[in-house]
Amino acid sequence: MKSERGLWGSKLGFILAASGSAIGLGNVWRFPYITGENGGAAFVLIYLVFVLLLGLPYMMAEFALGRATQLNPVGAIEKVKPGNKWKYVGLLGIITSIGILSFYGVIAGWTFGYIFKSLFDTGTPASNDFSAFISNPQYEIGLYAIFIIVTAVIVYKGVESGIEKWSKILMPLLLVLFIILIVYANLLPNSSQGIEFYLYPDFSKVGFKTIIAALGQAFFSLSLGLGLMITFGSYIPKSTNIFTSALYIVLFDAIVALFAGLIIFPALFALGENPASGPSLVFIVLPKLFSQMPAGNFVGAAFFILLSIAALTSTISLLEVPVSYLVDEKNVSRKKIVWYVAFFVFIVGLPSALSQGTVKFFTNFGWLPSSLTSADFLSQMSFFFGDFLLTFGALLLCIFIGWIWGAKNAGAEIMISGDNFSKFKGTWIFLIKYLLPVIVLVILVSIFKVTGIS
Ligand code: PFF
Repeated sequence: MKSERGLWGSKLGFILAASGSAIGLGNVWRFPYITGENGGAAFVLIYLVFVLLLGLPYMMAEFALGRATQLNPVGAIEKVKPGNKWKYVGLLGIITSIGILSFYGVIAGWTFGYIFKSLFDTGTPASNDFSAFISNPQYEIGLYAIFIIVTAVIVYKGVESGIEKWSKILMPLLLVLFIILIVYANLLPNSSQGIEFYLYPDFSKVGFKTIIAALGQAFFSLSLGLGLMITFGSYIPKSTNIFTSALYIVLFDAIVALFAGLIIFPALFALGENPASGPSLVFIVLPKLFSQMPAGNFVGAAFFILLSIAALTSTISLLEVPVSYLVDEKNVSRKKIVWYVAFFVFIVGLPSALSQGTVKFFTNFGWLPSSLTSADFLSQMSFFFGDFLLTFGALLLCIFIGWIWGAKNAGAEIMISGDNFSKFKGTWIFLIKYLLPVIVLVILVSIFKVTGIS
């Protein structure tokens, strides 16, 4: 995204920036632990169906609205239907992005801290190594603060182009490292049990929670539902094929998540860890794996550096949502508002940072029922903002695009420079107008029914 309105320099630049937002901790940290908690392969299959059937068409819808209006989400909605309540959907996206950034920043802080831990700690990590790490509040809050400050500095300067250049080199490097780790992990004794868990579906493990988690994860991982892709879309030139671009982004994102699982699950079974360890899963399994590898300190540090950068390209896009809204619509100075918003996010995230054993109240928070997510504040934030509000936002935006703006208008926008879309246009309209709203609505309503929240 750019601070002054302009168009992407190249099609690749746009695809990389949108992929940079999509690919992050959601793929490498969240996907494996949610898969582990939800019984493995059957979850993965449902997740992939949601990604292709709902995530891909919905991403195209956000791009189409952005490109047609050339505005941020709130502005775009106002332009299509002036003076109405729909603009609150844009505001919902802003609240959701702040909620997500607050807990995401905490995990990004852990990732950053693990660069140094990997480099300097020797020997196999003790079983309580990670819990000791995250229950040290000074350390944890410090790392979290550093990550939010770095994000804010980049958004402040508006120099995403620099980050874009970096990610062009570093993201392929992350993939190469992933492939090496996949090979290594799968050669360990007993790793095949992990492959079985991860790739051979056992549908008896599918419950209602599995379906909500798969839906939430699909939208979260693709950065959908906040209107972020409307903003990205507002910078796409008419000559870019929206259908092909979205397809690439969705495939990149799914491949990175699937690769992460191909490392974690074989390693986890080989090392005798528990797949349902929750948010700490990758921080327990990976350091153990690195400690067994030749030059593991460096491999580990390289891995966490690349993961921190992947997280950074996502946190930048998350902070841009409230900042660009305030700059565009409220005419405030970008330079000032960045710091206010970042400080606010930091405060909102403190309970998450303190919820991993430091403060009992936040550790056993449990406002949302345990049938939905774990009791700690961080998991609760992750479910409420990252699954529930995000999908709810996607539902409302989808209804807005499909019914208020009109799926035909959106389809016509995608057709511009999108010849290969013509044979899918009818299906796409059906998915956006009917299938997506119905599926998402049924799932969201059942949360209330099943858990008895009303
Ligand atoms: N998609 C990011 C990830 O998977 O790490 C997280 C994210 C970024 C979610 C931006 C939502 C968003 F708007």
